[in-house]
Amino acid sequence: MASKFIVIEGLDGSGKGTQSKLVTDILKDRGYKVKKLTFPDYDSPTSSLVKMYLGGELGDNPDDVNAYAASAFYAVDRVASFIQSWKKDYQECDYIIADRYVTSNIIYQMSKVSDDERDDYIEWCEDFEYNRLCVPKPDVVIYLDMPPAVSQKLMSGRYNGDESKKDIHEKNMNFLLCCRESALYALKKLNWEHVMCAENDTPKSIESITQLILDIIDTKL
Ligand SMILES: Nc1ncnc2c1ncn2[C@@H]1O[C@H](COP(=O)(O)OP(=O)(O)OP(=O)(O)O)[C@@H](O)[C@H]1O
Ligand SMILES: [Mg+2]
Repeated sequence: MASKFIVIEGLDGSGKGTQSKLVTDILKDRGYKVKKLTFPDYDSPTSSLVKMYLGGELGDNPDDVNAYAASAFYAVDRVASFIQSWKKDYQECDYIIADRYVTSNIIYQMSKVSDDERDDYIEWCEDFEYNRLCVPKPDVVIYLDMPPAVSQKLMSGRYNGDESKKDIHEKNMNFLLCCRESALYALKKLNWEHVMCAENDTPKSIESITQLILDIIDTKL
């Protein structure tokens, strides 16, 4: 039987990496077989086009590569990694935990289309990846809602203050704010689970967010 497939989503610096590791460890401690995935798969050459795009080789503005082209870059990385490395895990594990997935295209790339094209974009994106490329559809998508002003602070140490190391998404606050709008739209339309990660612009503790995620997993799956 296929794994229960959980996606941890959120904007840059929202805590996806931190939480997906903690949740994976807790499920393993409970005795389950768990595979943790991270997208894009930066260790693999399959992410080359994503690296070119985020590195600004195709233009310094995210809009220089349209929503559908950029989505295709991320999609081919995902399907190649599925075929090459986690197809078997998907059949054999109890849980797959993915840090980002198809749902990241719906957040980041959908922000490039007009409001009245959003539904078409979502339909195209889901059909392309789940039906045509045949990567598995998640059972639950957990959206970590950390306000961008807070996540920017959380990430401030990452590049030791060297702004030039940020990728074309990270250095464009305006783009990130549009992505947050897309995320909230998708959250409602696609019934993602909403985890509020801050109160009055103060992040909740890492442990309390992990507990909220586990509560969702235990109730939904
Ligand atoms: N609730 C929290 N409170 C305080 N610090 C946090 C919290 N969650 C995460 N952090 C810290 O914030 C930083 C960003 O977290 P993390 O790397 O998990 O985010 P991410 O969503 O994976 O980021 P990216 O999208 O850039 O990969 C890390 O230094 C992490 O330790
Ligand atoms: Mg991360």
